[in-house]
Amino acid sequence: MFDSASFIEEAAQKMKDEIDDVAIIACSGGVDSTVAAVIANQAIGDKLHCVYVDTGLMRKNETEEIQSMLSTHGLNLTTVFAENRYFEALKGITEPEQKRKIIGELFIRIFEEEQTKVNAKYLVQGTIAPDWIESGGGVRDTIKSHHNVGGLPEDMTLLVVEPLRDLYKDEVRDLARTLEIKVAERQPFPGPGLAIRCLGELTKERVHAVREACAIVEEEFENAASEGKMEIPWQYFAALLPVKSVGVHGDVRVYGETVVVRAVQSLDGMSARYSEIPHSILQKISTRITNSLKESVNRVVYDITHKPPGTIEWE
Ligand code: XMP
Repeated sequence: MFDSASFIEEAAQKMKDEIDDVAIIACSGGVDSTVAAVIANQAIGDKLHCVYVDTGLMRKNETEEIQSMLSTHGLNLTTVFAENRYFEALKGITEPEQKRKIIGELFIRIFEEEQTKVNAKYLVQGTIAPDWIESGGGVRDTIKSHHNVGGLPEDMTLLVVEPLRDLYKDEVRDLARTLEIKVAERQPFPGPGLAIRCLGELTKERVHAVREACAIVEEEFENAASEGKMEIPWQYFAALLPVKSVGVHGDVRVYGETVVVRAVQSLDGMSARYSEIPHSILQKISTRITNSLKESVNRVVYDITHKPPGTIEWE
């Protein structure tokens, strides 16, 4: 049985012993990095600088929500607004692994800039076991380079500290509950953000479309679950596919892209089963997405693939 209180105490003590200088931590607002930040804050307090990068690839209202949540835990937070840098770096890139590598590398460059500002020696990260297992880990095939593992450039000077490295998601959620972190039950959101839910080339318009679609999926599922019409899935979102088809709006021909809705049940993200969602809910989502994205999306499909053979995200 996993004992979260002892884990927190031991991890904080270990960090206290290991970190003898200023550290920065990459906060994404997700459960993993928030837990790592709150434990690191207990361990080294003033020596810790939290950096949140707004990549322009976050969900709707997410930056404001994350800033407010992190400030309730007393963390010393700097927000770096880097949307234009990300879009510039990702221009013309369509290959998923290349996207992940570019995003990971730019993250590290931005952290290095922050490191110089505060003269940091360490980088604390909320990496958990599935991140490095699925990134190859030296012995396995690389399925996806998680930005916080496969994307680290070789010439990086920061020393990496990963207190949650051996844990799985359910254990990290236990820690979050013990630490009274509000995002304990929040569904996972991948480090590369909406970039890997926007298949094909990233443009601000296409990212806007997938952001709206994700917001609609989240809202409809959460409402339906609170009304007892369905169980909330472990993870649920939309992805935008660069597949165009012919549709009709009123009596006007529309040649638009496709949104796929994905919802899965899982314990730790290593394997997953697609969720059976009542058709009436999917129908409502489809209508809302095609109405609010009239100009760009004219078809919505539902993904019925387990992991394996699929993965949860589409890239
Ligand atoms: P896949 O798509 O590999 O995802 O089945 C398994 C779980 O991991 C999340 N995921 C990521 N999380 N950085 C992360 O922190 C990443 O690069 C990344 N890629 C996927 C995914 O959302 C799912 O919960």
